[in-house]
Parts: sequence; C-alpha cells; structure tokens
Amino acid sequence: MIERIVNLAVDDDDKQDQELEQTLRPHDFANYTGQERLKQNLKLAIDAARKRGEPLDHILLYGPPGLGKTTMATVISNEMGSALRITSGPAIERAGDLASLLTNLQDGDILFIDEIHRLHRTVEEVLYSAMEDFKLDIMLGKGPSARSIRLDLPKFTIIGATTRTGALAAPLRDRFGMIHRLEFYKPEEIEEIIKRAASILGVKINSEAAKTLASRARLTPRVANRLLKRVRDYADVNGDGIIDQSISNHAMELLEIDDLGLDAADRLLLNVIIENYKGGPVGVETVGALISEERSTIEDFIEPYLLQIGLLERTPRGRKVTPKAYKHLGRARNDGPQASLPID
Ligand SMILES: Nc1ncnc2c1ncn2[C@@H]1O[C@H](COP(=O)(O)OP(=O)(O)O)[C@@H](O)[C@H]1O
Ligand SMILES: [Mg+2]
Repeated sequence: MIERIVNLAVDDDDKQDQELEQTLRPHDFANYTGQERLKQNLKLAIDAARKRGEPLDHILLYGPPGLGKTTMATVISNEMGSALRITSGPAIERAGDLASLLTNLQDGDILFIDEIHRLHRTVEEVLYSAMEDFKLDIMLGKGPSARSIRLDLPKFTIIGATTRTGALAAPLRDRFGMIHRLEFYKPEEIEEIIKRAASILGVKINSEAAKTLASRARLTPRVANRLLKRVRDYADVNGDGIIDQSISNHAMELLEIDDLGLDAADRLLLNVIIENYKGGPVGVETVGALISEERSTIEDFIEPYLLQIGLLERTPRGRKVTPKAYKHLGRARNDGPQASLPID
C-alpha cells in the first residue's frame, strides 16, 4: 500500500492529526464554509424543531471523507443547543452496547454514528424501532425462560455519517427524515478555509500561496488543512516561516503533489489503467489487484476526486481514463500494453 501524503483517513494513532482537526473544526454555521444548500436545509429544520420544542429529525450525511460530516454534526448540536454523543458503526459491537448508549441519552440529545454503514446487522435491527418509535426491545435471559421487554427511550436524534449510502440497508436509510450529500468544495471556499486555518494556527501565508494550496487540496477541507500544516513545517525549516508562492511550490514538489492535487497513488491508478487496459474500461477489483489496494480504499479515498474533476469515468463495464487524464499525465492516447513509458 502506498503511504499517502494526502491521506484522507483520520489515523487513530496520529495524535497530532487529531488535535489539528479539533482545533480547526468550526463550531457554528457562520464558520462552516460552503455547503450552502445543506446549511439552508438544516437551519430551517433546526428553527422548526426549536419552535415546536421537539428534537430534530434523524439526519444522514453522506459523501467522500474529509468534506465535513463530523464537523457538521458538531455544528448541528451547537446550533440546537443539544448534547452530542459520538460513536461509530464498528464500535457498537452488540445490541446491548447500543441499548446502553441509548438509555443513557436525555431528551433532545444527539447521537452521532460515524461509518454507520458498518453497523453490525443485529445492532442495526435494534436501531430500527429505536429510531422509529423511541422504544427499545430487549431480550432478557436465554432459552425457554427468555422474555422480551420494551423500554421507552428519550426523544433523541441520530446523525449518521457514511461515505456511501449504497452500503446502507434500505430499512435503515428509510428511517432518516433528512438525507444529505456533502459536495466537494469550490476552490475559493477551500481558499477561505485555508486562510481561516492559517489565522487560527498563527501561520503567515500570502494570498498567492493560499490560492496555490487551495488548487491542490482536492477540493477537500481535510486535505487543505493537512497541506497547510506540511507547508508550514517546510517554511519553518527552509524559510523565514512565512509561506509564499515559492515555499508552497517547493513543498508540493517534495510531497509529489501535482498542480491538480494528485499524489503518487492517484497517478499510479491512472497509469496502471492506461498501461494495462489501454485506458479501460476495467473493473475496480482488477485495478485494486494491480495497485495492491482494497476496493473500498479505491472507492472511498482515491476515486471520488478523480471522478469529480473528470480524470476518470464510471461506465457499466468499469473504470475508464478520460482524455483529460491522458493530457494531464502527458501521455499519448495510444499508450497501451505495448507502450513502454515508465510509471512514476
Ligand atoms: N465547511 C468547513 N469549513 C471549514 N473547515 C472544515 C469544513 N468542513 C471540514 N472542515 C475541516 O476539515 C476537517 C475534516 O472534516 P470532518 O468533518 O472530520 O470530515 P468528515 O467527517 O466528512 O470526514 C475538520 O477538522 C475541519 O477542520
Ligand atoms: Mg468524520
């Protein structure tokens, strides 16, 4: 597996990364840049819920990693004035774990379930009635003496986050009153996010450099913040601490991030399809085998941005590299198995 500089996953072991995310996380709508339609919808729902004195409907947020799903959950809880409990699909191992989470909530609390598509089936089934009727059916005991009891639950709100709704069971999806997709950001929004992050971190960056970074951040706030941090390190060591155009260009070169924000893993994926399958179409499993990545890694972390900027296409017969990608990689259209250009 390639070590990705623009790694989109939050590494549990990397305390520095986690702290960075905490520090930079906006806490209200005013500081949450972009996603205007989502914000409008949520503001309306929050106003209505508050007026009625009711909890918010269950909300499902989906979209590629790093676009602000977790952040939005914290913003919603702040705007509602509700307590937020955070967990994740894989962390809830048994129905009993879910039961204890739910029974410990208060009316109006929000339970954020990250990676909700990875909930265990048995847990998921308990969640259905909890979300629908605020009731919990639990079995006490085993065998012939077992009996089921029904508990009343507080009126809570679930906010679920997932990188793909497709992986979510339909009955679960149906229990969300609001389902929203997070979109990639506009370059100017990313620039704004970079400037905000720089001011919070006390980093000096000029406007030109902020623009360069923004254009290489995969239209993704998490990547933008990480690039800023890496460039700051570079500026501290190789410059006078101020990030200008030349510092940011050098840092990008060192990180092997090109002017579209692609890193080595992105280029490898495209080149492998060009060299082995004349640009495709080719199945994602095959591509995965060729570059030694899991299908889910490709689908969640690599592909979305390549699709977004039109370097890759999804067809019924598999993935296809676009003419724009050939041009970007400086390759001829007839580069194929017989061509012998090296993979970088
Ligand atoms: N709209 C936004 N405005 C400013 N910063 C953002 C925004 N969305 C995300 N971020 C930043 O990007 C980082 C990653 O966001 P996060 O909510 O963890 O993404 P996700 O949960 O979708 O993977 C956060 O630490 C936050 O600082
Ligand atoms: Mg998240």
